[in-house]
Amino acid sequence: MENGLADIKMFDSKLLQELDFERKCKVTFDPVISPSNPGESLVMRPLSLGDYDRGIIQLLGQLTEMGDISREKFTERFNNMKKDGYYYVIVIEDTQTNQVIASATVIMEQKIIRQCSLKGRIEEVVVNENYRGKQLGKLLVSTLILLSEHLGAYKTVLETNEKTIPFYKKIWF
Ligand SMILES: CC(C)(COP(=O)(O)OP(=O)(O)OC[C@H]1O[C@@H](n2cnc3c(N)ncnc32)[C@H](O)[C@@H]1OP(=O)(O)O)[C@@H](O)C(=O)NCCC(=O)NCCS
Repeated sequence: MENGLADIKMFDSKLLQELDFERKCKVTFDPVISPSNPGESLVMRPLSLGDYDRGIIQLLGQLTEMGDISREKFTERFNNMKKDGYYYVIVIEDTQTNQVIASATVIMEQKIIRQCSLKGRIEEVVVNENYRGKQLGKLLVSTLILLSEHLGAYKTVLETNEKTIPFYKKIWF
């Protein structure tokens, strides 16, 4: 893929910088990590088109069944989600391996209630099994909660299964 195309992001990276995570996040991290500093050699950013070549499909495969996803299929879905403007997929990349090692999504549902408000729905939280236990899951979800608020959501919800309830209980307020 041409370099320029590979850099196309699903949404403006500036949104993540605007979050004021250090002041607003109610979850504690020990050692301290944040969206601007998720760990050594790690970078958090919006999903980009080039992440097809950085293992996004394989990463999501650790969450659920994927099937065959060609570059064309991925590109078409990425472009549709970007154009829609209500999908915010974030990833963490290990810049030493150039692989995407964690990802999570918040979808902003448009409502008529509450003066045509928005509701954030967090989905598809996954951390590569070699990187688990480093607070990255907690960091992704905390970031998306703040992003959802920043985008004007009146509330943010999350669907999960029984197995991961203990994980989300560490984060949810
Ligand atoms: C669930 C998942 C995202 C957690 O990611 P992670 O980066 O390992 O989690 P963290 O290191 O941020 O853990 C945060 C806290 O939750 C706890 N925790 C993490 N996974 C847990 C689990 N499965 N059960 C109970 N507690 C868990 C951790 O001990 C930690 O507690 P602490 O803050 O007191 O130290 C990861 O295991 C994963 O990708 N699983 C497969 C996909 C999945 O099930 N996704 C969620 C459904 S959408």
